Amino acid sequence: MSDIQIELANINKHYGTYHALKDVSLRIEKGSFVALVGPSGCGKSTLLRSLAGLESITGGTIRIAGEVINNVPPRKRDVAMVFQSYALYPHMTVAENLTYSLRIKGVKKDVARKAAEEIAATTGLTGLLDRYPRELSGGQRQRVAMGRAIIRHPKAFLFDEPLSNLDAALRVQMRKEIRSLHDRLGATSVYVTHDQIEAMTMADHVVVMREGVIEQQGAPLELYDTPANKFVAGFIGSPAMNFVPGTIAANGHEVVLDLPGAPVMELGRQVEANRQVTVGLRPEHLSVVPLDEASLRLPVAVVESTGSMTYVTTATTPELTVVETGRTAAKTGDNVGVRIEPGNVHLFDRQSEKAI
Ligand SMILES: Nc1ncnc2c1ncn2[C@@H]1O[C@H](COP(=O)(O)OP(=O)(O)OP(=O)(O)O)[C@@H](O)[C@H]1O
Ligand SMILES: [Mg+2]
Repeated sequence: MSDIQIELANINKHYGTYHALKDVSLRIEKGSFVALVGPSGCGKSTLLRSLAGLESITGGTIRIAGEVINNVPPRKRDVAMVFQSYALYPHMTVAENLTYSLRIKGVKKDVARKAAEEIAATTGLTGLLDRYPRELSGGQRQRVAMGRAIIRHPKAFLFDEPLSNLDAALRVQMRKEIRSLHDRLGATSVYVTHDQIEAMTMADHVVVMREGVIEQQGAPLELYDTPANKFVAGFIGSPAMNFVPGTIAANGHEVVLDLPGAPVMELGRQVEANRQVTVGLRPEHLSVVPLDEASLRLPVAVVESTGSMTYVTTATTPELTVVETGRTAAKTGDNVGVRIEPGNVHLFDRQSEKAI
């Protein structure tokens, strides 16, 4: 059995009458990197802050390293939080910021300095120890914030959207740095983000939340390949999955799409006949093909190219997005053939939105 470092059992949190966390249960293995992801307001920060002890929960049990810590004050929980706003002390140098937690414990100056140098080497801050936060770039400040957490050797690192202040290129670099730091330290990390790409690329285990509830959790590609419901299907993957209403044919192994021409698709499995469904098609599983090879013939509304990829959006209701690698000849106003890659069709119950 693997070691469970953090265990949340049936956590509930009310802010007055607002029910922000609804019976949330989650087990986090020692050494794992877990991402909490979901739209704004779904309760990610509330969950993280409850773990850190910055919010009091209204029900449930939190264990860290086996010990119930519901009533343990934040300072004694032995977790370190890293926020979006780095919350560095502006009047202290990098070295002083890094070693603040040591110095308040009375650690000697030269010992603290040596610790600061070691952390600087780990986090890429060597040579910057005597600067003030205002003399650093955003990425460097974020490294100081991480260094300050690392120096405490916490039982877990809790990150709340630590990269959202950085530009896109630096975010990509920092997410690799954070992940490799996590691996080198053998840390246990819980990482909140609303960015599913960040969650998918950094984490071993992704937890998708909506309105205070965990909708699904699992390995990144598990969520991508087998989303439990329409919400997770639409949230994981970029651009988002296309959803088209459909009806299972009388033979039970085909679905009729509610699109111009009522195209029929083979499912390769048996489903209850005449069932009303929502069909999920990932943009990357659709391609623009010559009309005579196509499963669908659809008018084009928009063509957007980034150079490496082209996004074709159809002028249909609902609209479909097709992702092509490279370029395409399709233009606005054209009728194009669209092929659906067999075996990559997701079905959801029209009412419950659960995967079929
Ligand atoms: N102190 C508070 N009092 C009342 N309601 C609150 C309080 N803090 C948060 N909430 C509500 O609880 C819900 C969850 O908030 P939370 O900050 O956890 O969301 P989040 O998932 O972190 O969102 P974001 O991605 O925007 O940071 C929100 O609807 C929010 O309005
Ligand atoms: Mg938040």
